[in-house]
Amino acid sequence: MSRGRAAVVVVVVIVVIASSGVAEGRYSGDFEVTWGPDNVKSFNNDHVLKIVLDNVTASGFGSKKSYLFGSFQMNMKLVRGNSAGTVTAYYFASDKDDIRDELDFEFLGNVSGQPYILQTNVFWNGTGGREQRNYLWFDPAAAYHNYSVIWNPYQIIMAVDGIPIRVVKNNEDIGIPYLRLQPMKIYASIWDGSIWATQGGAIKINWAKSPFVASFGKYSFDACKNGKASCTRKRWWNNPPYQTFNVDQQSQLQYANQYKVYDYCEDKERYPDTPIECARNNI
Ligand SMILES: *[C@@H]1O[C@H](CO)[C@@H](O)[C@H](O)[C@H]1NC(C)=O
Ligand SMILES: *[C@@H]1O[C@H](CO)[C@@H](O)[C@H](O)[C@H]1NC(C)=O
Ligand SMILES: *[C@@H]1O[C@H](CO)[C@@H](O)[C@H](O)[C@H]1NC(C)=O
Ligand SMILES: *[C@@H]1O[C@H](CO)[C@@H](O)[C@H](O)[C@H]1NC(C)=O
Repeated sequence: MSRGRAAVVVVVVIVVIASSGVAEGRYSGDFEVTWGPDNVKSFNNDHVLKIVLDNVTASGFGSKKSYLFGSFQMNMKLVRGNSAGTVTAYYFASDKDDIRDELDFEFLGNVSGQPYILQTNVFWNGTGGREQRNYLWFDPAAAYHNYSVIWNPYQIIMAVDGIPIRVVKNNEDIGIPYLRLQPMKIYASIWDGSIWATQGGAIKINWAKSPFVASFGKYSFDACKNGKASCTRKRWWNNPPYQTFNVDQQSQLQYANQYKVYDYCEDKERYPDTPIECARNNI
């Protein structure tokens, strides 16, 4: 390669990095400890991060940067054995509480040999209360599995091993705010949720089983930092196939829905009038 050509390549790389984030790699490069530094431990040359809950502290980490739209993939392996009372969260959140946008994957522990529940939730403009709960079709503590989000101006798809478990459409045309105004950071944490996590709080954490360890492995994200069209229009996850929820994805979602055990859209006691986004999002 000539020197001139090499210089052009360098310039192009710098422009791409400045307008977006593309990461696949080492935890210390992209994330920082947010909770319980003694209980956040790096392995495999910083390609694996383990967060530990024990009787001294909970723990967690968060991305150094914020993102507005992108594709995000994270491999996780959950607490083995009796994880009752523990909550392992992998989530995206903006920083102002009163208008917070947030997308959650929360794994609710259970007693040994019984399945985990994956609770998802979405906040827009400061309010949540949109929980959905699924069992998984595998044991999430036995091996790493891939939890992903594709978030563009049209829709958000939350998926497990590539199978969509939840869709949030941009419903601004019917007056529902959409997560498109505030950048979010990526967070993970493990903590004692005994008051609600397992069988509604009936089963508490058993500290004799501590430490509780959740492992985060290979990850990648390809994202924009500010949501501007100058960044999003170049990204694969913003192309037409990712703007709608296609027939294959619908049948995959139906598969995942066999494992759904709770949906705020069907909770008449809590929401006597079904929230209007439900008809759009429950495809
Ligand atoms: C915390 O756990 C350790 C190890 O299991 C135990 O030795 C210690 O006594 C516990 N401390 C408290 C305050 O429970
Ligand atoms: C967000 O909520 C605030 C009230 O808390 C309201 O004033 C504002 O218009 C809302 N924004 C959107 C985009 O709906
Ligand atoms: C996560 O899953 C997606 C969809 O199956 C796949 O394309 C991607 O390579 C996986 N990413 C990682 C980091 O494992
Ligand atoms: C735990 O397992 C039991 C038995 O399989 C089940 O009834 C319960 O809903 C599970 N999940 C939680 C979070 O308690």
